[in-house]
Parts: sequence; structure tokens; C-alpha cells
Amino acid sequence: MASLVTLTDGYVQRHDLTLVEYRDASSGAGHHSILRRQATMPVNKAHDDAGKGRPEGPFKGRVAVVTGAGRGIGLAIARKLGSAGAQVVVNDLSSVADAAAAELRESGTGAVAFVGDITRDGVPEQLVEAAIDSFGSLDIIVNNAGYATYAPVLEMTDGQWAPMLDLLLTAPFRILRAAGPHLVKPAEHLRKVVNVSSVGGISGSPNSAGYAAAKAGLLGLTRTLAKEWGPYGVTVNAVAPGLVRTRLTEGPAGGHDHIDIAGERLPLIGAPLTELESMVPLRRIGTPEDIAGAVYMLCLSEADYVSGETLVVGGGWMP
Ligand SMILES: NC(=O)c1ccc[n+]([C@@H]2O[C@H](COP(=O)([O-])OP(=O)(O)OC[C@H]3O[C@@H](n4cnc5c(N)ncnc54)[C@H](O)[C@@H]3O)[C@@H](O)[C@H]2O)c1
Repeated sequence: MASLVTLTDGYVQRHDLTLVEYRDASSGAGHHSILRRQATMPVNKAHDDAGKGRPEGPFKGRVAVVTGAGRGIGLAIARKLGSAGAQVVVNDLSSVADAAAAELRESGTGAVAFVGDITRDGVPEQLVEAAIDSFGSLDIIVNNAGYATYAPVLEMTDGQWAPMLDLLLTAPFRILRAAGPHLVKPAEHLRKVVNVSSVGGISGSPNSAGYAAAKAGLLGLTRTLAKEWGPYGVTVNAVAPGLVRTRLTEGPAGGHDHIDIAGERLPLIGAPLTELESMVPLRRIGTPEDIAGAVYMLCLSEADYVSGETLVVGGGWMP
């Protein structure tokens, strides 16, 4: 089940999206998935409300989609883009997306939540549709949702490998494929895609081969789309965070010994971050705001001639 929350004149409306799986009756072979919308109310045109008391800034009137924006780096990105005037579609797996969108609206940002697992068939397309239904256009996409599974390659199961490719590579591909027709529409400004990769995607990440491979693949997708969509006025870049303090990296030392992903409980591992600080030339672990600042920079018009690039945001550290 995915859901979309929209806001009109102070009233929140919820639209439920149900994933229906069925077997082909004629052949009896194969499962197919369709997404059926159960909207009980007409979808809100939130852009009618745009401009009323919204934050001023370089992205005023622009519409941004940020995946995995209920917490951590994604939330910091949503806050940063929103504070610079963008209207934001906040995606995450659970009600953390609702809370984040509510917080953004409190600060004057036009924001809607889209609760849904972007690895499920049809959800990437619904996410793009939600942005268009809510705000009427699409200007910035930040593919951020992610986590890592841990095992050395010789012990890594298909069940640890495949979800990494699904979430970190296939979901961004599907979101961007669905968004493409909207992004390439003529506009006075360039449209912006920023994919959140990782230093692990550049230099490898022992015990996280699926994660590193998918993050490296995301850089390939970034460079390819920069070439395909550049002629239409779209820049496509990546940021590659180093060590950033979130629940994923704080792990057990930070009181987070597991995460729940789509009904599965996954263990978190890792050394206390303070032990790793001395590796970083700038002598501190990054914050979600550090990464949000880099995404913001790439979305500015001052970066309009930057495309196909990967901006490492790691305090000078590269594993
Ligand atoms: N924290 C770091 O040090 C670090 C370093 C390099 C890269 N990154 C990348 O930054 C991104 C954000 O990570 P974070 O550290 O903020 O983690 P986080 O766990 O704080 O936030 C990630 C969010 O993504 C959401 N998410 C996971 N699967 C999803 C799905 N299928 N559909 C929708 N949402 C989903 C989670 O619910 C969570 O809220 C990830 O792509 C991660 O790989 C993080």
C-alpha cells in the first residue's frame, strides 16, 4: 500500500494506492502487478496555492521530489530545498514521510508526503504522478533512499545482494524514466537530477558488495542521463557522501541496532563514529546538512554548466 497526502487550504487529504498482484488467467503463467488508485477525493492541485507565504529563494516555484526524505540525509535535503523556495514531495517507507512533510509545511514550504516503497512495481511511476498531480510540474529529483546489507562476498546471499540493486539502482532508473517526459519539457531554467551515491561506489566497500556495486551503477546511470538529457536542458549529477552521522552509520553505538525495511528487520553494524573521525582530514564526521548543501549547490543556476559529475562530500576522506 502506498499513500499520498496532499494539502489544500489547510485540509490534509489522503489517497490510498493499492498494489494488486494477479496470475494471468489465460496462460496461467507468471504474475503481473498493477497499481490501482483508490482516491476517495479528487487529487489536490496544490500548485493553485503556490506562492502564498512560501519561502523566497532560488528555487521558488520549482517542484522537487526527494526519496527517503523522512529522516537523515533525505530530510536535510528536503528542508534545504524547501527553505530555498522549492515545493517538495517527501517520499519514504512509513509515516516518517508524513511527519517530515508536516514539518516542512509548518515552516511555510509547500510539501506533500508520498508514503511508498519505491522498489515495488508501479510505485516509482506513482511517485512522479503524485508530484505532477500535487504541484503541476517537476524540476528537481533527488534519488536518496538507501541502506546497506552487510556480508563478505563469499557469504553474501542473493537475498542480501538483490535488494541493493533494486533500491539503489533500479528504483532511481524507474523514477527517472517516469520523470523524463516532464523533465525535458522546455523551461526558463534547467531541470536538475542529483543522485545520492557513496564513496563506496567509487572505491569499493568491503562487506557491502551489493551496496558498492549499485552505488557505482548509479554513477553510470548519472553519466548516461547527463548525455541523453543535456540537450533538453537537464543536468544530471551525483553526490558521493563519505561518513555521515545518521542512524545507518551511528549503528549500535548510537542506539540503532537494526532498521525495519518493508517488514524485514535488518541488523546495523559498525564502529563508533568517533573512532573514525581521525581518518577524515577535516577531523569530523559529516552531517546530513553537509550533503544537503552539496545537493543545493548542484541545483543552483550557478551550477548549470556542471553535468555528469560526481561531487565527493567527505571532508577530504576517501576510503
Ligand atoms: N550516512 C552515510 O554515511 C552515507 C554515506 C554514503 C552514502 N549514503 C547514502 O545516503 C542516502 C541516505 O542515507 P541516510 O544515511 O540518510 O540513511 P537513513 O536511514 O537515515 O535514511 C534513509 C531513508 O531511506 C528510506 N528508505 C529505505 N528504503 C526505502 C524504500 N524502498 N522506499 C522509500 N524509502 C526508503 C528509509 O526509510 C530512510 O528513512 C542513502 O542512499 C545512503 O546509501 C549515506
